[in-house]
Amino acid sequence: MAFREYRIGCMMFGLALSTSMFVTIFLPGLDISGMSSTKLALEKQLTYGWESGFNYYDPFLRGKDKPIKVTLTKDPKTGAPMDKTNAYVFPAGTHFPDGLTHDNILGDKVQKASDEIGKIGEANEAQGGVFLVQTTADDTPYIEFATATRGWTTDAVLKAADNKSLAGSGKTLFIREGCWWCHTLLPEETQDWQTFGRPPLVGDFNGESPTTFGSDRKAPDLLHVGSRNSSREWLTMHFFNPRLVQPHSIMPRYDYLWGDKDKSGNPIDLKAWDREFMAYAKGESIYPPEVPIPADDSEARMLIDFVLNLK
Ligand code: HEC
Repeated sequence: MAFREYRIGCMMFGLALSTSMFVTIFLPGLDISGMSSTKLALEKQLTYGWESGFNYYDPFLRGKDKPIKVTLTKDPKTGAPMDKTNAYVFPAGTHFPDGLTHDNILGDKVQKASDEIGKIGEANEAQGGVFLVQTTADDTPYIEFATATRGWTTDAVLKAADNKSLAGSGKTLFIREGCWWCHTLLPEETQDWQTFGRPPLVGDFNGESPTTFGSDRKAPDLLHVGSRNSSREWLTMHFFNPRLVQPHSIMPRYDYLWGDKDKSGNPIDLKAWDREFMAYAKGESIYPPEVPIPADDSEARMLIDFVLNLK
């Protein structure tokens, strides 16, 4: 009798364990991949490609093996003008996201439309290709394999593109650099709505790995940051040294992501930059030193593209 509480504790533990095993075994319908993909989920898969965290093909998280998101205003094959369209280019050998290789995770209707209208079954990783996100007349989103349906090759699309975004590589850097120590990508269902925008839906995450919700928030939520702060100039200065735009910012500098050379090929001297910045901080000069424009293949460029793409 003296140890009755142990018995109650054991019963409660048994109940919790058996309930969770029951849910796992008998209610697989609660599985997240049982949800149908939203349009955003398809766009995210095609922007981020396969696995953004640590993986065999990019063990040092340098943003390799990722697709390129481009904007087109003319048909890459015929040159005829067309409405602004986003296309996702997978150069030969780039790994496909899970929605393309295991299309049953897309959800029944989305899978059917992507197969029948979008012809995604004809795509293969070794050859690469170009994809679009479309919607049917009854509002079902689907993936179109434009290389099969329209004859758009990766080279022609990259050449015709107005704008190339390296947001896919940028997501890997967001993970590597630990931005999630301070920032979440998950507004909650509270007053957060008013400040940071609407929370995501379950179906927004099909095929995304890993998700980058974050848990602690020491800084603004970034899920929709590209909609409220779309200035590439501001973001460039803020990443190089947040104290340039927010004098008391606790955000670390990310100037090392610029690499050795700026966009015009001039060497970047971080030590000299710091000396000039300290003179400015002490009031010895009126203007801070200029921030170099990141090179097109720099990690800084990838990260900024990722942030701007969070709409
Ligand atoms: C130590 C915490 C910390 C870390 C780590 C951090 N940030 Fe921040 N970040 C902040 C704070 C605080 C702000 C608010 C503005 C300020 O003080 O600079 C901010 C602001 C921002 C903003 C502007 C937000 C808005 O609402 O306009 C962006 C974008 C951003 N950070 C991106 C990043 C990225 C990308 C990384 C990783 C490379 C990162 N941050 C890492 C603390 C952090």
